[in-house]
Amino acid sequence: MKWIDQAGYTGAVGWCGNYCVTVYVGGIRFLEPVFIGNVVEVTAKLIYTGKTSMHFSIDVYSRNPKEETLKHNTHCIIVFVAIDEEGKPVPVPEFQPKTENEKQLWQYAQKLMQLRKDIETEMEAYIKIP
Ligand SMILES: CC(C)(COP(=O)(O)OP(=O)(O)OC[C@H]1O[C@@H](n2cnc3c(N)ncnc32)[C@H](O)[C@@H]1OP(=O)(O)O)[C@@H](O)C(=O)NCCC(=O)NCCS
Repeated sequence: MKWIDQAGYTGAVGWCGNYCVTVYVGGIRFLEPVFIGNVVEVTAKLIYTGKTSMHFSIDVYSRNPKEETLKHNTHCIIVFVAIDEEGKPVPVPEFQPKTENEKQLWQYAQKLMQLRKDIETEMEAYIKIP
């Protein structure tokens, strides 16, 4: 999970050129175990930008170093916000999807944003539990 955050952070700072903080990590799914000694690859793909936020699709792959086949271990979405020296959100350059794959992922990000609103509404009840 540390590598997921680091991969996303590198992508976020590279995209906007500002310091960034993680505002959300979600939908994390551990599909396959990573074994000790495996070679691990973590990819961070920018799929959506809002005014100050950047949404990354993160995928983790691994393989036995003696083999060539990569296993898909984990997928999740991580959202970063660009901030100034006072910790206030600042605008980021807009990501405009061009390829069919980028357009599909852009829609995927928007769909997840909508689903998250529903989940967060449900989770607000947790704060009120003594
Ligand atoms: C990130 C932070 C600066 C945002 O401050 P805020 O007052 O909520 O600011 P805003 O309401 O203007 O939201 C800023 C952006 O965050 C997004 N955001 C807020 N809550 C979110 C959530 N739960 N999921 C996804 N995005 C979210 C907003 O949609 C907005 O994006 P947009 O400008 O692209 O529309 C503030 O919440 C913070 O400092 N959080 C702690 C960050 C941290 O410590 N991270 C862990 C270590 S890096």
